This record gives sequence, structure tokens and C-alpha cells, in this order.
Amino acid sequence: MNKGIAIYPGSFDPTTNGHLDLIERGAKIFEELVVAILRNSEKTPMFSVAARLQMLRTLTAHLKNVRIDTFDGLMVEYAKSLEATCILRGIRAISDYEYELQMALMNRKLEPTLETVFMMPADKYSYVSSRLVREVAQAGGPVKGLVPEVVEQKLREKLDLAYKFHDEMHAIKPAGVGGKERKRKKKA
Ligand code: PNS
Repeated sequence: MNKGIAIYPGSFDPTTNGHLDLIERGAKIFEELVVAILRNSEKTPMFSVAARLQMLRTLTAHLKNVRIDTFDGLMVEYAKSLEATCILRGIRAISDYEYELQMALMNRKLEPTLETVFMMPADKYSYVSSRLVREVAQAGGPVKGLVPEVVEQKLREKLDLAYKFHDEMHAIKPAGVGGKERKRKKKA
């Protein structure tokens, strides 16, 4: 167990099973892990900071050394204010490496005493990202197994209309009365 506080910063819009996997791994090796949601992102989020905070709190309630917080401005300044010693980030595939390396080195330049520690989530989540989850959900596709159930429910509520449309489409097609068959029936 590593003494001291580690920060796991990110957008968490929304939290995926990959994030949760990493939080659980981080909680095992750090004395205290602060999952920190960036408040002032340039991106337009799908979920408000309050909703993301609430979801993460629910999802990590069983982890006694994990705390959820939000931050603004420079991450290293926030880390210093907590007297954190490490930044935790996840690397899923080689494609993450370049961005993560750049960020880690910039953070080191800004605050040399702060170490970035990379961990890998379970390989079954190696293709899961918040962006793809949003994309699939927005198009009415299933996200089961990619995000925790609480998040799936929130996505469902948010995108109720899209899901309704998707469900209706699927209610018609499997009945076998689509395309050619429908035409045949009409002719008969
Ligand atoms: O989940 P994300 O969107 O990949 O997380 C990116 C995040 C929030 C970790 C990063 O954008 C960040 O730390 N932003 C805060 C501003 C900052 O400190 N920028 C310099 C980092 S190189």
C-alpha cells in the first residue's frame, strides 16, 4: 500500500466499467484515492458535474478509501492543495499512450514532485471509452456491460426518446414483416 493521497482526474462523462475497474485497482494500492471530476472542460458534457458526482459516489460507496471531488483549473494546483503525491491515469491501448505521455510530462514540468502512475484496466474494457458509450447510447444502441447499471439507467432516462425509437424499430423488424415479406403480403 502506497502511503499518501493519489488523484484520479478525468471527465467521467459518463463513468464506464473501465473507469470503475481502474478505481478499484487504484484503491488497492493507494492509501487514499480522490477521483476528481474536471469542472471547466471545454467540451459540452452529456451529464452535469452534479450528476457525474452523484453517479461516482454511488458507484464507489463500497470503497472506503475512495473520495469523489471536483476541480477547476490546473490539475497540479488542485493536487498540491490536497497534498497528493500521485496522479493515477489509465492506459487502455497504445493509442492512449501519446496523449497520456504528453499530459504526464507537462504535469511533471508544472510540478516535478508529483508522479503520474499508469494502470491498465481489465482487457475486456480496453475498447471502452466515455465517448464511444455516448455515441452508441445517443444512437439508441445497447451499452449493457460497458457501463455500470446506474449509469445505464441514467443514460436511458436522458436518451429516452432515442431508446423508444430503437425499441419500436426492433419491435417491428424481428416479427418478420419487414422489407420483401411486407411487399409479398400486400400483393397477396
Ligand atoms: O477524462 P479525460 O477527459 O481524458 O481527462 C483529462 C483531464 C481532466 C485529466 C485533463 O484534461 C486535465 O487534467 N485538465 C485540467 C487542466 C490541466 O491541468 N491541464 C494541463 C494538463 S497537461
